[in-house]
Amino acid sequence: MIEALGPLGMQWEMVVAGAAFGVAADDFASPAAEVPTAAAPGGEPALALDGISLAFGGVAALTGVDLAVQPGEIRAVIGPNGAGKSSLINVISGIYRPDRGRVRLGGRSFAAVPTERLARLGIARTFQNLALFPGLSVRDNVAAGRVAAGRSGVVGQVLGLPRARRERADALERSLGVIEFLHLDGVRGRPVGTLPYGLQKRVELARALVAEPRILLLDEPMAGMTATEKREMSGFVRAARERFGTTVILIEHDIGVVMGLSDRVAVLDHGRKIADGTPDAVRADPAVIDAYLGVAHQDDEEGDTRDDARNDAGRAA
Ligand SMILES: Nc1ncnc2c1ncn2[C@@H]1O[C@H](COP(=O)(O)OP(=O)(O)OP(=O)(O)O)[C@@H](O)[C@H]1O
Ligand SMILES: [Mg+2]
Repeated sequence: MIEALGPLGMQWEMVVAGAAFGVAADDFASPAAEVPTAAAPGGEPALALDGISLAFGGVAALTGVDLAVQPGEIRAVIGPNGAGKSSLINVISGIYRPDRGRVRLGGRSFAAVPTERLARLGIARTFQNLALFPGLSVRDNVAAGRVAAGRSGVVGQVLGLPRARRERADALERSLGVIEFLHLDGVRGRPVGTLPYGLQKRVELARALVAEPRILLLDEPMAGMTATEKREMSGFVRAARERFGTTVILIEHDIGVVMGLSDRVAVLDHGRKIADGTPDAVRADPAVIDAYLGVAHQDDEEGDTRDDARNDAGRAA
């Protein structure tokens, strides 16, 4: 299968070298402030936030946010622009260190999640703004998500040591599996930068999935997509959960998508959680209607071919 790909060129080497730095850094990660939690058989959430607060200067991005997400759940996080949704994901992925509170992942509790150990903790994410290598092929972009989860350091990669070679072959093989799963076969050799936006978002999902994460953090994976693209993407997120048993945290403004895809929905407003429940309960909650569902958001100005989130919110309300 790997042989069919032909010789691996410079681009692949760039991906490996870039990703390997993250892996090498992992070996030096300090376990400071990491506390094992007492296992609660059957009841331990896949992810829990306990009293998370985070401020930037005088701006409170998050205030006392609690969240418990069960294994295999699709949990949407919604709220107006600036509500703190991306900050929440950045705390879970260790990009931001909260001022207060703890993050529990599996059986461990962190004051700050070690972002360099994210892949080993079983977490993968996508970004609100695309974070792909536009000049590299779909296949190499996706494979980069697998290499980041590997254990061979940059020296091993450069010298082509056996473990590094095995990991590279494994990364490519698994990439092809995920590429097929997300119906990207037809474009797997194309530079990502030449693809339509909706497909680029799908490549980002593929790159996250190739690590086979236990927890998948999706920050507006459908922003800017047409209604058709959103339907396809929703199908892929659901299929990923079914196939890998992944727990999903989904930030999304399109209320139709949120209601159709999520098991539960948490609502943030000005950094505080104002509701958390089933889609039906949240949709009927007057506080949520006041803060969000009756209000337009930034993406509303898009053209006819794009879903209008204000209309979706209005219909939902
Ligand atoms: N790195 C940062 N530096 C300063 N302020 C920040 C930073 N990140 C977030 N904020 C502020 O924290 C608040 C929450 O921002 P965040 O990006 O989490 O909101 P959001 O709910 O994701 O919004 P959107 O729907 O527009 O993506 C905002 O007031 C924002 O300006
Ligand atoms: Mg955001």
